[in-house]
Amino acid sequence: MEPSHETKRQIMITSALPYASGSLHLGHFVEHTQSDIWARLLRARGHEVKFLCADDAHGTPIMLNAEKQGMTPEAMVDGIREEHWRDLQAFGVSYDHYHSTHSPENQQLVSEIYLKLKAAGHIESKVVEQYYDPEKGMFLPDRFVKGTCPKCGTEDQYSDGCESCGSTYDATEIINPKSVVSGATPVMKASKHLFVNLKNFESMLKEWAASGSLQDEVNNKLAEWFEAGLQAWDISRDAPYFGFEIPEEDGKYFYVWMDAPVGYLACLKHVCDQLGEDFAPWIDPDTSHEMYHFIGKDILYFHSLFWPAMLYGAGMKLPNAVYVHGFLTVNGTKMSKSRGTFIKASTYLQHLNPDYLRYYFAAKLSDNLVDIDLNMDDFRQRVNSDLVGKVVNIASRCAGFIKKKFDATLAAELHNPALYTEFVSHSAGIAELFEGRKYNAAIRQIMALADKANQYIADMAPWVAVKDEAKHTEVHQVCSTGINLFRVLMTWLAPVIPFTARKAEAFLNSDLNQWHAIEQPLLDHQIEKFKPLIGRIEAETLETIIEQSKQDLAAAAESKPAVSGPLADDPISAEINFDAFAQVDLRVALIADAQHVDGADKLLQLTLDLGGETRNVFAGIKSAYQPEDLIGKHTVMVANLAPRKMRFGLSEGMVLAAGPGGKDLFILEPDQGAQPGMRVK
Ligand code: MSP
Ligand code: ZN
Repeated sequence: MEPSHETKRQIMITSALPYASGSLHLGHFVEHTQSDIWARLLRARGHEVKFLCADDAHGTPIMLNAEKQGMTPEAMVDGIREEHWRDLQAFGVSYDHYHSTHSPENQQLVSEIYLKLKAAGHIESKVVEQYYDPEKGMFLPDRFVKGTCPKCGTEDQYSDGCESCGSTYDATEIINPKSVVSGATPVMKASKHLFVNLKNFESMLKEWAASGSLQDEVNNKLAEWFEAGLQAWDISRDAPYFGFEIPEEDGKYFYVWMDAPVGYLACLKHVCDQLGEDFAPWIDPDTSHEMYHFIGKDILYFHSLFWPAMLYGAGMKLPNAVYVHGFLTVNGTKMSKSRGTFIKASTYLQHLNPDYLRYYFAAKLSDNLVDIDLNMDDFRQRVNSDLVGKVVNIASRCAGFIKKKFDATLAAELHNPALYTEFVSHSAGIAELFEGRKYNAAIRQIMALADKANQYIADMAPWVAVKDEAKHTEVHQVCSTGINLFRVLMTWLAPVIPFTARKAEAFLNSDLNQWHAIEQPLLDHQIEKFKPLIGRIEAETLETIIEQSKQDLAAAAESKPAVSGPLADDPISAEINFDAFAQVDLRVALIADAQHVDGADKLLQLTLDLGGETRNVFAGIKSAYQPEDLIGKHTVMVANLAPRKMRFGLSEGMVLAAGPGGKDLFILEPDQGAQPGMRVK
């Protein structure tokens, strides 16, 4: 048996910070599940754990997204953070705190780190030429310029590469470039940028990589990057930008990836401040405190090169390890919106217990970068046969006898103490597999032991023995052995399926969060009435989730009409000032044509005449209008809304509507005197 008391460790664990744009989906939960199991395991083993995450709030896409929604970025990221945190908690992810990178702690820390890098001579400046949107007055990241591919001539390609022929090229090579933000032709403009000189950190990074705590695949990647040569890292962006201003500069902002990982420390700082604990030992290079980051393979470069360089350059401790996982696929392919396999966490949660998915991910996750497939049939069968058929079955076969025949009290002795000792002897090995992130191997062992426990009960057949008065004590001890084996299994599974574990605790009257508690069996101990802990997954439920995910997509794609419910359940958005309102260009438009859209339930395609210019607009008004009734009438449209690419084509504006929705949806028809193109305000 392993020693009950290892030295208590101080362990900081993080997951990558989700972008504050859009909802969390099941792909995100591979990571949150992986890190949460690890955090729960280490807590159960008696260590001090700080398990942390936050929303990643900054950057151009988030700034433009907020603008599109007519909100300040601050208000938008606050709302999204709340939604994310709600989903995470509902999934049982036990962060000690869920912070935001748009926080005072983060601003202070990133500024401090930057100034230390600067003082140590690691920051250099260079003039960079970049696309600039003259209409919008902003520099455009690659993804915000589109044009014709210089290699194959396909239109509407991003400026950094072509999706049609797969070639990559310099942004300046693209033909007929257009700003995605305003549609204007961008110009090249020069500006001073600040860089972290990554080369300065090369030997330190090589040493860190050689320390042996990184995965093989990660080391291979790093070797490739070292081979290719480390490039200086551009950490500044010009205004307008949603982020933190760089100290001692004028109108320069930290690039989002500069302050994002600092968000890990900002969250920790916040937690320490709240608890009145000392933050300093966590970042002291000579500390025994430990720091681990869980991330997906797409963001390795940032975490294995930039982040350690920043920490080191600022005189802070390096991460003990960065643990990288693969991507989620569903039914063997990339999550797909049209197939309904791009499943939002909140959609899943409306239908299924989070423990099912946590268990399934655990059964598949290992310590490598291989992608994880959620196969819906396998998911259902695996959960039904393992959790319901094996683990919970042990308790349900034994509990009734204890309750009815033995006054709900376990026997003072086990019938098979050797079997119990054998189970417990696996505890150290299972902990080691979990700590080594070989969750799939841990689950395999636990299920093999669950089979063994079931076999034992089947061999003893208490349901037969109970008919024989002489075997009264044996039945009591056999069932008590069964319940104790169940307790051992549930203690091991508690980090994986916390909701089920809480129910099992209520049944057992015993805390399952103490890894070492199982060294002593429960003897002469009162238990509660057994209630089924977890039900089977039905195939129909999974079909419903897929169907609903397809509809989620349709709802998002059909640009939302200006229809909302009463204020009570749809409060008015954050206030905007008059300048923001004045920017909305409302025009009278003549509906020149209206058509049904193939495959859309709610949309009509409108051709709007603005008196010289026509616009193609998709409007969610099919429930109220026949296309032929609209042609020739006037409506009011937002004429300067950035065009939006939808599944059915580009939408170049939005019409205004009033009414509760459904059939009662009225697109305004101003009096006869109105002329197409006329300003409305
Ligand atoms: N904001 C950055 C991370 C900053 S960390 C200082 C980011 N955000 S993200 O929302 O795009 O991704 C958050 C995490 O979820 C990443 O680790 C990413 O790899 C992971 N995943 C996002 N989609 C995923 C799948 N489909 N499958 C598995 N993990 C995925 O990157
Ligand atoms: Zn091409």
